[in-house]
Amino acid sequence: MSNAILKGKRGIIFGALDENSIAWKVAEACHREGARFTLTNAPVAMRFGQLQKLGESLQCEVIPADATSIEDLEQLLTKSMEILGGKLDFMLHSIGMSVNVRKKKSYTDLNHDWMQKTFDVSAISFHKLMQTAYKMDAMNTQGSIVALTYIAAQRVFPDYSEMAESKSLLESFARSFGYHYGTSKQVRINTISQSPTMTTAGSGISGFDEFFSYADKMSPLGNADAESCADYCAMLFSDYTRMVTMQNLYHDGGFSAMGMSPAILE
Ligand SMILES: NC(=O)c1ccc[n+]([C@@H]2O[C@H](COP(=O)([O-])OP(=O)(O)OC[C@H]3O[C@@H](n4cnc5c(N)ncnc54)[C@H](O)[C@@H]3O)[C@@H](O)[C@H]2O)c1
Repeated sequence: MSNAILKGKRGIIFGALDENSIAWKVAEACHREGARFTLTNAPVAMRFGQLQKLGESLQCEVIPADATSIEDLEQLLTKSMEILGGKLDFMLHSIGMSVNVRKKKSYTDLNHDWMQKTFDVSAISFHKLMQTAYKMDAMNTQGSIVALTYIAAQRVFPDYSEMAESKSLLESFARSFGYHYGTSKQVRINTISQSPTMTTAGSGISGFDEFFSYADKMSPLGNADAESCADYCAMLFSDYTRMVTMQNLYHDGGFSAMGMSPAILE
């Protein structure tokens, strides 16, 4: 069901790898709500991902860009504005990757060179994107920028490892840049703190399946799925949330407010 809440809006969606990706569902929701946008992912993801397929089905251009490269981001923003015919109204940052998690290093034995790579891809890329858009004046007044995060930024989830610090940094960039972009152009910047979701990035965390069912039981509404996260993103890109900025917004079926759940004790 569409309410066309994004009719006339232009944007860029980062991070759709396959049909399980949260960004994939966001692209479908934004399309349904009347937005026009480009899709992007790291050049390496083009080889094993299915982004072209999504681009064809939604009639969107796919532009490869490494989100850690300012040059790639400049080209992406320039091409997107050309293709869409004007400045942008929204951007989704849906990017995460931890080298130490991939290589199964324990938190007390992390490789700090890899950690820097993790921070660059998962968090600093968000600042790079916003700074590049800011300098190029690529966003329309009252635009909206959203990044996806996880509650491990606030509380300890041991298996999440260095991604916890990545998410803390990401959320802090949203607040700090939200000030600058808000005062200069009324662009709002928020993070959505999403439930565990069955995706490539999610299931890379050890013990993810057990944790997924724990969180599902702990949350009064159950885990929020990728489709409902996509609807929430679409709302945040819409004018209905034009005064919401610099917030970390929990989209987790109530998990973040819980202390103890009888469902877990049973
Ligand atoms: N899945 C979960 O449980 C969960 C929960 C909360 C938040 N999140 C966050 O949601 C976001 C999307 O993850 P997902 O779960 O859909 O998994 P995903 O694996 O489908 O998406 C991660 C994306 O990051 C992209 N990426 C990696 N390096 C990149 C680079 N250098 N440049 C550009 N793109 C790059 C990957 O190609 C991939 O498309 C991430 O920020 C993740 O941390 C996920």
